[in-house]
Amino acid sequence: MLKKTLVGSLIFLLYSPLSAYDLRSNMLQLGAELAEVQRSFIASDQQGVEDSIKRFAEHSQALLGDKDIFAKMLPAGKKRKAHEAEMSAKIISHNVQIILDAIDNKHNQSGIVRREEAQRAYTYIEHACFRCHNLLRDEYK
Ligand code: HEC
Repeated sequence: MLKKTLVGSLIFLLYSPLSAYDLRSNMLQLGAELAEVQRSFIASDQQGVEDSIKRFAEHSQALLGDKDIFAKMLPAGKKRKAHEAEMSAKIISHNVQIILDAIDNKHNQSGIVRREEAQRAYTYIEHACFRCHNLLRDEYK
């Protein structure tokens, strides 16, 4: 019985087209994962930063890294702006790398400098979210 339900939902997932629903639920997850990174920075929890930024990095690249996948989730009138997703994915992965390098002390810097660099990179990641929302989501006059 359980098996049947499982197979059924897998088939459903395979054939259901990506839609606005997927975009919203993926975005909610991305928001929750980024909030976890912020929480770890605020708590000065270095291990927490490393774990949460890795989780966030994987999911953000999967969601934003391929403009064709992203286009399928956008409403009809906005599909041509899907390239913004790839641009955001690049900004995000660049700044995730800065945070990971700071944790690994790749450039042999003091703890104070590494903390500063990592925290600044985090704010640039948030800026990538705002940037795309400004361009693609929020309708202001
Ligand atoms: C390439 C464009 C793009 C990028 C980059 C982007 N978003 Fe979004 N986001 C959207 C769009 C479009 C929606 C509207 C989806 C909907 O409601 O159908 C959205 C919706 C959301 C929502 C849902 C809000 C609600 O309506 O409840 C959250 C949360 C969110 N984004 C968080 C983030 C976070 C955090 C980041 C950065 C890590 C981010 N987004 C980056 C385009 C983007």
